[in-house]
Amino acid sequence: MAPHRTRFGSLAHYDKGGVEVIKDDPRNYVFSNVFEVASKAKPYEKVAVGKNIEYVIEAIRAEGTSGWRVAAQDEFALVMDGEVEVRLVKPDDPATGSGGQPRLDSARDRPHGSEDGPRSRAARSHDALARRSGLPVPRRAARGDPAADPGRTRHGGALGRDLSDDAAAPGLSEEDDAMTTDTVPELGSIEPNQHGYRTFTLGKFTFSRDQYFVHVRWPNGTHMLAADAFLRAIQRDVAWGFFYGIVNFDTVIGTVNHYGTVDLFAGRFNAQYRQAGLDYSENFKSDAISRLFEAILADWTNATFDPFASPEETGSAFGPKNGSNKRAITRHRVTAKRMIGAPGDEPIRTDDNGFPINRHFTDVSQEMPDVHAEPGFEDQVVSVNLFAYLSRSDVTWNPSVVSVCKNSLYCPTTEEYILPIIHGNDRVEWFVQLCDEIEWEVEDRDTGAVRARVTMKAGDVAAMPADIRHRGFSPKRSMLLVWENASPELPELYASGKMPPAPVQF
Ligand code: PHB
Ligand code: FE
Repeated sequence: MAPHRTRFGSLAHYDKGGVEVIKDDPRNYVFSNVFEVASKAKPYEKVAVGKNIEYVIEAIRAEGTSGWRVAAQDEFALVMDGEVEVRLVKPDDPATGSGGQPRLDSARDRPHGSEDGPRSRAARSHDALARRSGLPVPRRAARGDPAADPGRTRHGGALGRDLSDDAAAPGLSEEDDAMTTDTVPELGSIEPNQHGYRTFTLGKFTFSRDQYFVHVRWPNGTHMLAADAFLRAIQRDVAWGFFYGIVNFDTVIGTVNHYGTVDLFAGRFNAQYRQAGLDYSENFKSDAISRLFEAILADWTNATFDPFASPEETGSAFGPKNGSNKRAITRHRVTAKRMIGAPGDEPIRTDDNGFPINRHFTDVSQEMPDVHAEPGFEDQVVSVNLFAYLSRSDVTWNPSVVSVCKNSLYCPTTEEYILPIIHGNDRVEWFVQLCDEIEWEVEDRDTGAVRARVTMKAGDVAAMPADIRHRGFSPKRSMLLVWENASPELPELYASGKMPPAPVQF
């Protein structure tokens, strides 16, 4: 069989996906391709391809030498094609003659090798052999700004395990429907059923499983889900701290995050259940529902099954109870404080620390960027090969926080098969497809009515509006950058209509 080929884009060759509209306005998705944008721009012209309130992603064609740039906060650069040398100088160093002012002179005016700050070459060339990428940390690193200390405020909200319990977001709340149950859950039954699995109760919800299915019961309804799909879904829900907004396990069951408490619901985002008056919700402390899902995962995940793995990389979830897989369900979740690879932050992945290259990414270059720091700057310049990092991910559909600037989080992930949840947004999200291809099914968040199908290929950028829900399909393992704005104000701003659901008004 032919080996897998990873399809990156380049200025010389890129394919562009697009938005297939069913009932929508394609402008809601602000769809573009960084290679197309960069190829039409002037060298070093910054063209915004993504805008998440005050945060921006710009596409730049690096060609020749740029002028000097000074940023007021961290900036993260990702080289998608070719090779770029980034020189960093300390702007207030008298040796540069800049006197603390932004330097606008050209690097060309200065002889090579005479930099007074560090230098890093973050590169990725067209050919697979020399392919590299980097995420340098320029401004505060080079200037040694004390504000960059790792002790600063962590990002709140979802996606980490460090949830801020006080940041209750009223968005999406339909409290009239939801009864709050404040008790510690009585977890599982003591006795296993005839298949060997325990039954679990939280509030008025009961969860049981047989050899193929999970059965959910609530006061006025019942529902069945396949056991593998259910375990994949609750594994994401607990790992992500209930994520942003709504995590639908399927079109009936799921959770709504209120950042401190969580609603467990049946039929709430399903037009037919709602019309029939059969939807049901209960509100729990986040901690209680986490402990319930963790207990279910521990009891119902057989030794042969890994809920984070793609179907081709795991054994069966089915059959009578057969051991457990604690290692798979308690993985460390990567949430960088500033950037992976930075001193004291999340380490990069290697064979030695247990992250071999995935079978679909054996052609991804592992070459590391060259970093030359002047004495005194050694711990302030960081550049890593992000594609190499992702090629070694051992999980699918599990965004990890690799770089942070205030509330702007870069959460790349590797995807294969189907996103195990249908995610309902409480804010705008952005996607940058880094390689290969994903198709997104997009529906109305509240009713489930189909809106659009978005195909993303390497270099494509798209927004997902604040009022949708979506599910991704990735035929081959691919790399996706999910860009989140973790600001705790956002759910209320969108829910109250103070902010429009699409990120850009044309
Ligand atoms: C999303 O809902 O936007 C999402 C979730 C998990 C992923 C990718 C995207 O791996
Ligand atoms: Fe999403």
